[in-house]
Amino acid sequence: MRFVPTHCITTGMKLGENLYNERGDLMLSRNEIITQDYMASIQRLQYNGLYIDDEISNDLEVINLINNEVKIETIKIIKNTFIQCEQKNKRKNNGIIKKDMKLLRMQIENIVDEIFNKKELMVNMVDMKVFDDYTYYHSVNVAVLSIVMGISLGMDRKDLNSLGLSALLHDMGKVFIQKQILNKPGKLSDDEFQEMKKHSQLGYEYIKSSFGIANIVYMGILDHHERYDGTGYPNNIKGCRISIFGRIIAVADVYDALTSDRPYRKGMLPSEAIEYIMGSVATAFDPEIVETFVRKIAPYPIGTCVKLSNGLEGIVMENYEEYSMRPKIRIFADNGKKLDEPYELLLFEKTYLNITVVDII
Ligand SMILES: [Fe+2]
Repeated sequence: MRFVPTHCITTGMKLGENLYNERGDLMLSRNEIITQDYMASIQRLQYNGLYIDDEISNDLEVINLINNEVKIETIKIIKNTFIQCEQKNKRKNNGIIKKDMKLLRMQIENIVDEIFNKKELMVNMVDMKVFDDYTYYHSVNVAVLSIVMGISLGMDRKDLNSLGLSALLHDMGKVFIQKQILNKPGKLSDDEFQEMKKHSQLGYEYIKSSFGIANIVYMGILDHHERYDGTGYPNNIKGCRISIFGRIIAVADVYDALTSDRPYRKGMLPSEAIEYIMGSVATAFDPEIVETFVRKIAPYPIGTCVKLSNGLEGIVMENYEEYSMRPKIRIFADNGKKLDEPYELLLFEKTYLNITVVDII
């Protein structure tokens, strides 16, 4: 299968992955043919792109780190937790239902188990994001990316469960921020930004006062906007004074935000977001964490259509942790002309070639 941006999807294409609607219900199954009716739903949901299967990509398999059902279920639980918290906050009743926290913990344990069993894998899948419910999708993505880094850093299951929970709840404080600031489509004014910045402290205080969970979990929530050079918030702490969870969640948070479409900008490609994160080493992020991150996240995920600086075009087949910028590519075309015999090219042997992501070949 290969990833195709939504504006290049046409009727008759065969779906390479299950597709879910905004409620998390299965809308279209893998292998179904996209019809005009489905096109309308895909556009309405504002998917950034879809995996499709065709004759040049049907032998390419992408293994997702967590299966879609687990992901959708977690999104539903975190959404419910946020809504409960919001309603109770309106009634000035501090404390969300303990049942939600129990469910979240169980869900995180499942996710940690699943990722742990695939720990040799890189994150090789473009996330099929829907535009709505950004906060909840984002929370789950940040948890998955944080757990991947935690495993790479050698954390044990207990710490991974705590890290996952901290990441899942990192933006919970946003329920205390006014909706018009939270959902403002444009740039925030200075005053609005000061207000928005309170969410990490508010989330920390709320969760700490409501639940008996490990201190290390709260610290990740409190520190996720601290910067390695001490210019972050709320406490302007720097380096290793920032909790390890805070330093990990900071990288996952920025990566997922950059690769998501927002009301005011298109999401970046994984390769562009990784460049941005590498450019912020030691200012925003801990160098050791970034090193771990770039080894595990494929800048050009399997199934990405690319064009090389010598005019060759193809699809990414495989990625290597040590050479994540230099994947293996199956070449199908040369300067727009289809080749009779496709062939494979190992880019770490051709370091002089630059890669550009293209919509489709
Ligand atoms: Fe945040």
